[in-house]
Amino acid sequence: DLPTPVMAIESSCDDTACAIVRADGEILAETTLSQSGHVPFGGVVPEIAARAHLAALPGLVRDTLARAGLRPRDLGAIAASCGPGLIGGLIVGADMGKGMAIALDRPFIAVNHIEAHALSPRLPGVAGNGAPFPYLLLLVSGGHCQCIAVEGVGHYRRLGGTIDDAAGEAFDKVAKMLGLGWPGGPAVERLALEGDPHAIALPRPLMGRAGCDFSFSGLKTAVAQKLPAEVRTALPRPLAADIAAGFQQAVSDIVIDRLGHALDMMERPTTLVVAGGVAANGVLRARLRAFAHEHNLPFAAPPLRLCTDNAVMVAWAAIETMRARRAAGLPIPDDIALRPRP
Ligand code: KG4
Ligand code: ZN
Repeated sequence: DLPTPVMAIESSCDDTACAIVRADGEILAETTLSQSGHVPFGGVVPEIAARAHLAALPGLVRDTLARAGLRPRDLGAIAASCGPGLIGGLIVGADMGKGMAIALDRPFIAVNHIEAHALSPRLPGVAGNGAPFPYLLLLVSGGHCQCIAVEGVGHYRRLGGTIDDAAGEAFDKVAKMLGLGWPGGPAVERLALEGDPHAIALPRPLMGRAGCDFSFSGLKTAVAQKLPAEVRTALPRPLAADIAAGFQQAVSDIVIDRLGHALDMMERPTTLVVAGGVAANGVLRARLRAFAHEHNLPFAAPPLRLCTDNAVMVAWAAIETMRARRAAGLPIPDDIALRPRP
């Protein structure tokens, strides 16, 4: 008897997304728009992002309702990502959601964006075993890079995270140095196919150290040092490919090493889960699958559209939160605090 279906809005970075999800996890409709206005700048520009969310959201909400064959009054609750993220976009999405909730007299659920990523493998059909608690989550995207012990709804333990760049950010910066477009991850992966991952020696910062923090800044600097100014203007493709392959290999080695430590830092997890845009990387995915197999752990990687920023995960986190609160005899939350930082 939860107030569903839930309509959720995601606008914390450069994806504008809306989804409607039923209490049983059935997705009635989902739409995601990736903003293209950032491409000429080689990275997300907060002001452009906020304006683009504002321009896109009303149409997106209407469109998502139409696809689900629902009217606004059929919605049970409204949710939105309320941080961490870029504050301008968060305000646009939360304000739109809260406005709808007021007009419809429904609860508004403020969802933590990291929590939404963290609970995404529990969406029915994503992980073969349903990802029972506790599980180990590797979240690797352009903005986040951390290992989280997911122990229950609302119970997350950050085991470690990056002390400088996020993994996706490192991919994007290396892509820029190699003269590839943005976002850089897919371009680096494609070029790496032509390269030898062992041709160029690159460091693996923090590897072997205690804990499961990450650092990519030294790796990025090492890549820059392999590219003297005279080479950069006319980079031979074989050299660029070797660097791309070597970099991707180094990132994968680092991630696997860190995960080994993360495993030791928590009660035996039921599942290894990866989420975030970098989870699209085929080399990394294969290494993660092998790592999980080696440790006798089921491995779950949500399909890509649920790995990158999306509104389905936001709706699902709202549903899990409402269910957990009901079970604890607590009221459904109705909140609006925005938190730009985690
Ligand atoms: O989760 P996401 O869509 O957005 C956030 O950052 O929240 O992740 C985007 C990041 C970008 O840095 C992009 O370069 C990286 O994920 N990425 C990849 C690949 N596809 C996307 N990195 C490595 N290999 C890929 N195939
Ligand atoms: Zn995200």
